[in-house]
Amino acid sequence: MDEMKVLTEFTHDPDQRTLKKYQENGGYQAIRKTIPSITPDTLIEMIKASELRGRGGAGFPTGKKWGFIPKDPSIDKYLVCNCDESEPGTFKDRFLTEKDPHQLIEGTILSSYAIGANRAFIYCRGEFYEGIAKLRQAIEEATTAGFLGNNILGSNYSLNILVHPGAGAYIAGEETALLNSLEGFRATPRLKPPFPALKGLYQKPTIVNNVETLCNVVHIVNRGVAWYQSIGKPNNRGTKIFQVSGHIQNPGCYEFPLGVTLQEVMDRAGGPLPGRKFKAFYPGGSSCALLTADDMQISMDFETLATRGTALGTASIIIMDDSTDMVKVATRLMEFYQNESCGKCTPCREGTRWVVQILERIEAGAGTLSDLKKIEQVCSAFAANSFCPLAAGAAPPIVSAINEFKDEFLKYIVKNPNADRNPKMRMAYPYQPPSSVESN
Ligand SMILES: Cc1cc2nc3c(=O)[nH]c(=O)nc-3n(C[C@H](O)[C@H](O)[C@H](O)COP(=O)(O)O)c2cc1C
Ligand code: SF4
Repeated sequence: MDEMKVLTEFTHDPDQRTLKKYQENGGYQAIRKTIPSITPDTLIEMIKASELRGRGGAGFPTGKKWGFIPKDPSIDKYLVCNCDESEPGTFKDRFLTEKDPHQLIEGTILSSYAIGANRAFIYCRGEFYEGIAKLRQAIEEATTAGFLGNNILGSNYSLNILVHPGAGAYIAGEETALLNSLEGFRATPRLKPPFPALKGLYQKPTIVNNVETLCNVVHIVNRGVAWYQSIGKPNNRGTKIFQVSGHIQNPGCYEFPLGVTLQEVMDRAGGPLPGRKFKAFYPGGSSCALLTADDMQISMDFETLATRGTALGTASIIIMDDSTDMVKVATRLMEFYQNESCGKCTPCREGTRWVVQILERIEAGAGTLSDLKKIEQVCSAFAANSFCPLAAGAAPPIVSAINEFKDEFLKYIVKNPNADRNPKMRMAYPYQPPSSVESN
């Protein structure tokens, strides 16, 4: 299967960031087509019919989500674009905002129009200095040109967009934590239900969508539902930007129809580094189970990867070759989740820390066989009993690394002369227990 550049068609051109070039390349045609001649309800029906699924990780049908927004025009509604993008291996949203900011602005206008929002927010990861500057510049240009602000293109529809930089936290990407952060509170998740579509920002109906999701809307409007439906596979329509990083010749963003094989993406990215062989892949960012080199022919789509016990997630493929030490991979990843746990609920806050401690003990050559069982038990406990999906996403990358590469973990364990004993887990509590209690 060949690459198919839809969202990334013009990202190679530095001038694409300007309003002039964006319009020369067909930009803002979707707005002209839609406002006011297509009604918001018709636009929602079009997005439903296109089968577009969210690109933020969960793959929820976009049109269906928009349909949950109450129709009452007297209630304020908000659209929030999620550009927090803090998952290891994920960098498509930064790419889109830096290279083609008007595409996101146009998608945001269309989507806000569909749900009846007169105010939209783009919540960006704080470190995205360039993307934030480019978006603000694009908003200014679009406002001057009449695509934003009061009475867009002479219609009754008005919209303002605010770009809001976050302070840098993975959990701020979870939609309800993002809304708390946007309101000026700590980014901790809210209980669902109620879902944001009914009670979101300032307790008003709110749609949270990913950057790539909103950019897709522009092309569905421009080229039609039938065109969009002709790309990909049933229930997996459209293209996907695969982000390729790690041990690969040409890391970067590659756009393919959903259903491309892992092998095809790897070939496009230049294959393994000289003299090396692929060993393992996280196919959908760091919060999923890994695949091995035996899985190269797998179809990269939501259902196939779920059936294989992993996930498409953000389609961020993290590649590890035969030089990779899987114990170190598991330890580093768990350290990430421990750092990023917001601390709101005990299973995640404590469980991630316990697993880091066990993994560090194994890496230091002081692990035991029962440690592997303990990791599995603690991971399933926090995955099943935590408040939000951050914890459920922290378990599969670790457990799958142990399942697929147990021999590597065992090699570390047999280095331990005391490996046959079964010490109590040594937990580091905020207070330090006396050493007699700590030792076994
Ligand atoms: C810990 C965590 C981090 C997340 N980070 C992001 C993110 O950076 N960007 C994003 O779009 N979605 C992220 N999500 C998913 C959002 O909660 C939400 O599902 C998504 O923004 C909805 O957009 P979509 O329907 O367009 O996919 C995250 C979820 C979790 C649990
Ligand atoms: S699961 Fe983790 S990140 Fe989510 S609320 Fe609990 S402590 Fe916070």
